[in-house]
Amino acid sequence: MLCFIVIVMPKTQGVELGPKAVEKWFKKLPYAKQKVTKFHFYFHDTLTGKNPTAVTIAQSNMTAKSPTFFGSVSMMDDPLTVGPEPNSTIIGRAQGIYGSADQNEASLLMNLNFVFTTGKYNGSTLSVLGRNPVFHQYREMPITGGSGVFRLARGIATAKTYWFNTTSGDAVVEYNVVVLHYDI
Ligand SMILES: *[C@@H]1O[C@H](CO)[C@@H](O)[C@H](O)[C@H]1NC(C)=O
Ligand SMILES: *[C@@H]1O[C@H](CO)[C@@H](O)[C@H](O)[C@H]1NC(C)=O
Ligand SMILES: *[C@@H]1O[C@H](CO)[C@@H](O)[C@H](O)[C@H]1NC(C)=O
Ligand SMILES: *[C@@H]1O[C@H](CO)[C@@H](O)[C@H](O)[C@H]1NC(C)=O
Repeated sequence: MLCFIVIVMPKTQGVELGPKAVEKWFKKLPYAKQKVTKFHFYFHDTLTGKNPTAVTIAQSNMTAKSPTFFGSVSMMDDPLTVGPEPNSTIIGRAQGIYGSADQNEASLLMNLNFVFTTGKYNGSTLSVLGRNPVFHQYREMPITGGSGVFRLARGIATAKTYWFNTTSGDAVVEYNVVVLHYDI
């Protein structure tokens, strides 16, 4: 009698998950090729209206008096889309925290994950930890790591404001991301 034992490895995020799979991945690391992947998307940060995607969660008692809103902290779950229009196709989300961290110019500490939700990157994440002086033309932020397809990734995210409503604070920001990661 033939007996087939099928071990189904949970495979999401484009790679096998679980402690054994991660160990196997590390064993292959010395022979792995590095590759560069680029992303271009638009980040929609909506503070007002019926469905805000970023909310203020804390501030200090001097934040309101500060010209840069120093001490204000927000939590975001912002859609990332192919084009700049609000109804453009969503490819992922930016989930995390930004806080006003500069007393002299408008600049945010960005601490977030890009979570991809489509195609071969579905479920994989890239982690950003950087400084975002929001009124500069280009803001460069380090990609410090990742998960799934992007295990041990490093890279650079460049942000450029596409649209900004000075009254509401709502913004659409164009992101170009270049990431170095392993092909395993
Ligand atoms: C802010 O809070 C601190 C600590 O409670 C207090 O010492 C300070 O006077 C407060 N400042 C303002 C502007 O209310
Ligand atoms: C998005 O909205 C614009 C008008 O605001 C419309 O012309 C376009 O067809 C819409 N696109 C999609 C994919 O729904
Ligand atoms: C992405 O992955 C989730 C969870 O594994 C799944 O429910 C969803 O259908 C996937 N989406 C696409 C577009 O592949
Ligand atoms: C900017 O925001 C204000 C306040 O929410 C709103 O009344 C106005 O329509 C917005 N402008 C644009 C161009 O969306």
